[in-house]
Amino acid sequence: MKALVTGGAGFIGSNFVLRTRQTRPDWELTVIDSLSYAGNKNTLDPVKDDITFVEGNIADAELMDKLVADNDIVIHFAAESHNDNSLDNPWPFLESNVIGTYQILEAVRKHGKRLHHISTDEVYGDLELDDPNRFTEQTPVNPSSPYSSTKASADLLVRAWIRSFGVQATISNCSNNYGPRQHVEKFIPRQITGILTGVKPKLYGTGENVRDWIHVDDHNDAVVAIIEKGKLGQTYLIGADGEKNNREIIALLLELMDKPADWFEHVNDRPGHDMRYAIDSSKLRAETGWQPQYSDIRAGLANTIDWYAANTDWWQQSKQATEQNYARIGR
Ligand code: NAD
Ligand code: DAU
Repeated sequence: MKALVTGGAGFIGSNFVLRTRQTRPDWELTVIDSLSYAGNKNTLDPVKDDITFVEGNIADAELMDKLVADNDIVIHFAAESHNDNSLDNPWPFLESNVIGTYQILEAVRKHGKRLHHISTDEVYGDLELDDPNRFTEQTPVNPSSPYSSTKASADLLVRAWIRSFGVQATISNCSNNYGPRQHVEKFIPRQITGILTGVKPKLYGTGENVRDWIHVDDHNDAVVAIIEKGKLGQTYLIGADGEKNNREIIALLLELMDKPADWFEHVNDRPGHDMRYAIDSSKLRAETGWQPQYSDIRAGLANTIDWYAANTDWWQQSKQATEQNYARIGR
């Protein structure tokens, strides 16, 4: 199978490419990535002779037409992905997430190709801490931030292209990923790289906000399961029953990195900060047999800490730029 992986130089996409080379060596992979601040071509060095890399923008209709025509399936990870950035400057989110997805849809429609669209649980808004319910495929879309509203818009475009034009597509909405190669702007790597450089973890607001953590390899294995066993036209929620609040995550990181339990500081809260995400992934498990392999978040975080400690060259430059940005927006 010839697969076009969009956003393959970012966190989840690069882990997908590296892992799929091992688990599906017969797939021919082409990566398209614009190498935004979040993309790092060097991440793909271990497989650079086995894949094709194209630097380009998914919102470029002509380029997408050509690349889609040359492949059997598009596995669409590319997006602007950080909520705080979307609150600072929403436009790049509209261009990449909405226009970019539209151009991919038009190309797969024209050439009759398969699409798997990667999305987020944030399209469903948030839950109260004591809500007994979790998100399911039937939960109404109700996004809170510019980021999540552009992802919800992209999901709705995909659904419309499936129904109106018979495009052969599936959609997945996953919870918060952690693991190696995640940009240092995100919560867990920001704190790990901070602690490694002598800076206290920074907790937004009270830190009661809950995220449903999943290891990036479990997410990517679920994507492969949907591509191989999912039903066309369907949406699947991906989650690993990993709910933890932000205080608990900081406590685990401090313990694993031999720092006192109170060695963190509160900073300004994120405007519109979603309180809780929680995924019910029963449909995915029943239809594909997928199960998460990382059930122990402590072990998964310990591996992630080891990766950042061993790969300082990978993150040092972006760390400086990221913290300058956080200082500017006061978080
Ligand atoms: P990321 O920011 O680490 O990587 C995104 C990649 O897309 C980067 O390499 C960037 O250069 C590229 N890109 C952005 N705009 C582009 C454009 N217009 N053309 C070509 N390339 C472009 O993001 P991530 O965390 O790896 O997320 C990947 C996907 O997974 C996104 O669609 C995101 O919404 C979704 N998702 C992320 C999480 C999470 O916890 N990180 C959870 C669920 C879903
Ligand atoms: O739920 C899936 C989503 O998870 C993905 O769609 C997004 O692409 C991804 O970025 C992530 O969104 P969040 O906003 O949940 O992730 P972030 O890492 O930015 O923050 C996680 C939580 O930690 C959130 O409650 C905000 C908080 N936080 C974040 C940072 C950067 C802090 O308390 N301190 C921080 O320094």
